[in-house]
Amino acid sequence: MDIVDPRIERYMEDRLKRFDEPVLLEMEAYAEENGFPIVGRNVGVTLEVLARSVGARRIMELGSGFGYSAYWHARAVGSEGEVHLTDGDPENEPRAAAYLERAGLADRVRFHVGDAVRGSEQLQGDFDVIFNDIDKHGYPAAWRAVSDRIRPGGLYVCDNVLWYGRVAVEDPDDRRPGWTEAVLEHNQLIAEDERYLSTIVPTRDGVLVAIRIG
Ligand SMILES: C[S@@+](CC[C@H](N)C(=O)[O-])C[C@H]1O[C@@H](n2cnc3c(N)ncnc32)[C@H](O)[C@@H]1O
Repeated sequence: MDIVDPRIERYMEDRLKRFDEPVLLEMEAYAEENGFPIVGRNVGVTLEVLARSVGARRIMELGSGFGYSAYWHARAVGSEGEVHLTDGDPENEPRAAAYLERAGLADRVRFHVGDAVRGSEQLQGDFDVIFNDIDKHGYPAAWRAVSDRIRPGGLYVCDNVLWYGRVAVEDPDDRRPGWTEAVLEHNQLIAEDERYLSTIVPTRDGVLVAIRIG
């Protein structure tokens, strides 16, 4: 199910043409050709807006793929910042490194290959933003692992929280057992968590934004 009418998504994307540059266009083409699920341009710009709005200098991503979402986060943190990319597939790291190098963003990115939740436990200190985009069955565990690692005023941001409508409308063709239940549990945990104020922005597949208030 489309959350947003594709014509509206396209209208929104057309407003973001000024971000066209060769590396970004190559990353988007690579994702399209290989069916790789990147956040896409509307969410990418949203990530940069969110990170800049809290003055983020230190960001951790759970599930970075080949570096598309990190591209936007790396722009946001500036040359003094750091973005920690995590991904379980070792083939993604060299691809991400090459793209981000060519985009002039290599100075601020660090790579961690392996399980993202375990990797997050090995990184010291708090973060201004933690972005979650791993396999959906891992969402509740990811939230439990990182929700105390965000500084007050910082953000937890999570993609696909409407899970193509399955959070509200049964999908008889659902081919991922347990993923919808995990997304539902994750969203409920956050909705009830008094440390955070959260909302779901229904762009693309739903972006949960939670600001730490306690
Ligand atoms: C949806 S893609 C991420 C896309 C990326 N955030 C972007 O928009 O450019 C999910 C990625 O997370 C990785 N992944 C899934 N579950 C993971 C886990 N538990 N630990 C580490 N990586 C994981 C996959 O290898 C895949 O590259």
